Amino acid sequence: MRIFVTGGAGFIGSALVRHLIENTDHEVLNFDKLTYAGTLSTVERVASSNRYRFVQGDICDADAVKAAIAEFKPGIVTHLAAESHVDRSIDGPGAFVQANVVGTFTMLSEARPYWLGLDDEAKAAFRFHHISTDEVYGSLGETGLFTEDTPYDPRSPYSASKASSDHLVSAWGHTFGLPVLITNCSNNYGPYHFPEKLIPLMIVKALAGADLPVYGQGDQVRDWLFVEDHVRALHAVFEKSEPGRTYNVGGNNEKQNLEVVKTVCAILDRLRPRADGESYAAQITYVADRPGHDKRYAIDASRIKNELGWEPAETFETGIEKTIAWYLDNQGWWEAIVAEHKAGQRRGLSV
Ligand SMILES: NC(=O)c1ccc[n+]([C@@H]2O[C@H](COP(=O)([O-])OP(=O)(O)OC[C@H]3O[C@@H](n4cnc5c(N)ncnc54)[C@H](O)[C@@H]3O)[C@@H](O)[C@H]2O)c1
Repeated sequence: MRIFVTGGAGFIGSALVRHLIENTDHEVLNFDKLTYAGTLSTVERVASSNRYRFVQGDICDADAVKAAIAEFKPGIVTHLAAESHVDRSIDGPGAFVQANVVGTFTMLSEARPYWLGLDDEAKAAFRFHHISTDEVYGSLGETGLFTEDTPYDPRSPYSASKASSDHLVSAWGHTFGLPVLITNCSNNYGPYHFPEKLIPLMIVKALAGADLPVYGQGDQVRDWLFVEDHVRALHAVFEKSEPGRTYNVGGNNEKQNLEVVKTVCAILDRLRPRADGESYAAQITYVADRPGHDKRYAIDASRIKNELGWEPAETFETGIEKTIAWYLDNQGWWEAIVAEHKAGQRRGLSV
């Protein structure tokens, strides 16, 4: 099978590319603009495979998308390319509307005529799989879980742009019959995570001896999923599910942000103790909260478990241990990014 992956140089897209090249016989085209968040070092270890190709292109550029699809002739399109950092969406929402809404519209507009031109068998097997977030559902109170039937209630420019793109994908399925799939996943973590997101940021800042900035009281709850579990879920969805289906993907690992930061500190204390014998937790500082910060996200993933037999392999405890070990073993990867992008700088306060 030929799988067209947008955003395959980013955090989750690259994990999908590595998974598909290393664990399947599928061919992969990685279509990525290489924004600040995308780097080919994430796919370096599979780049020499004759089943892997890379095209640098923008999902908003209809001609580039059309040419890449026509040349590669995919059986599946997995659409991950997006602007993904909530803090950046507060500083500059326009880039999110462009990449996430216009980009998804462009992908759909180019996928549809291609799909219509396929023979009957290929047409029936084709899938356009849109990768989205649980943030489209808004914020939960102390109890309850997001199901696939939870009404959309996005609160940040990021989640509003993702919600818009989900609606476009759904509309292309209902109106034009394009065989679409949507997955809404909780917070991912793992190797090659750009060091502006909570977990890698804390690892990098801890090792640099810098303050560990916790937003507000650190009592926001997220449901953490190891990225390789997410990628196995995506694979199960685009290979097995019926067109029009949507799935929530989550790790059943609800944690307060402060607990996550303290866990990172405790593991680093064990694996790379501070020279002065103090805990990294001494570096925790409380800073102004993110404007409009959602309180709690938690996923009911029973549909994907029951219908497709997917379950996460990692608990938070095993996944975070692997992640921190990876950052310690791959210091060169993130040091280059931090140096080039000033990745630790605070964003998202421009209200
Ligand atoms: N990170 C999470 O916890 C999480 C959770 C649920 C869903 N998602 C969704 O999964 C997808 C991937 O997230 P991620 O964390 O890997 O993001 P990321 O920011 O690490 O990577 C995004 C990739 O998309 C590329 N890209 C951005 N704009 C582009 C454009 N206009 N044309 C082509 N390529 C472009 C970037 O170069 C980068 O390689 C996103 O759609 C995101 O909304 C992420």
